[in-house]
Amino acid sequence: MYQLSPSILSADFACLGDQIRQIEAAGADLIHIDVMDGCFVPRISYGMPVIQSIRKVTKLPFDVHCMVEEPFRFVYDLKACGADMMTIHYESCKHLHTTLLEIKRAGMKAGVAINPATPPEVLRYVLPEVDMVLVMTVNPGYGGQKFLPAMIEKIREVKTLTKELGVNPMIQVDGGITLDNLEEVIRAGADVIVAGTSIFSGDIAQNVARFKEVFAHVHP
Ligand code: DX5
Ligand code: ZN
Repeated sequence: MYQLSPSILSADFACLGDQIRQIEAAGADLIHIDVMDGCFVPRISYGMPVIQSIRKVTKLPFDVHCMVEEPFRFVYDLKACGADMMTIHYESCKHLHTTLLEIKRAGMKAGVAINPATPPEVLRYVLPEVDMVLVMTVNPGYGGQKFLPAMIEKIREVKTLTKELGVNPMIQVDGGITLDNLEEVIRAGADVIVAGTSIFSGDIAQNVARFKEVFAHVHP
């Protein structure tokens, strides 16, 4: 019932296709693809040509995390490249509600992300439209950062807000997730776990298996 979405930002790009095959064979549920524009976040990562070309090597759903200003501009391009889920930042949209509806109109699942400084309450009037809420557990922009422990409480607050509104979006966490904090984020309410460094450092298959073992044994 919990899903693992390895972030390929930490993969070895010299053999990206091969690493994606490895995470699929090891049992990953989704592939987390971080698109960065050098504007909403300081770095530039990768975009449409890379997404389109890795579409050929895996059947796993593409969970695209857009760290770009005004992601409305890229809805149909991402769909055409094979994205299944598109997550946009509350902080990056002039018209968040319109953009979420457009993502769904394009035939993708719609996710909304909030930065560490942003309170969950801002999502109240869009939550009925979303398939997933992404609680950033680091500031977006780089892999390999340290998990922010204060975000545990925020995951709980998001969960409480969804219950109050009678909706049931998936809750995703992203940033600094390791075997040391995995159980805690799940207990707080996370269902979709993004991990970059902890999956791509060392033995990929073993790392995926360890995450899955925790999934099988934690009861929230
Ligand atoms: C950060 C990205 C993350 C990143 C996570 O802005 O959104 O998806 O790749 O990497 P780790 O798991 O190394 O923190
Ligand atoms: Zn991400």
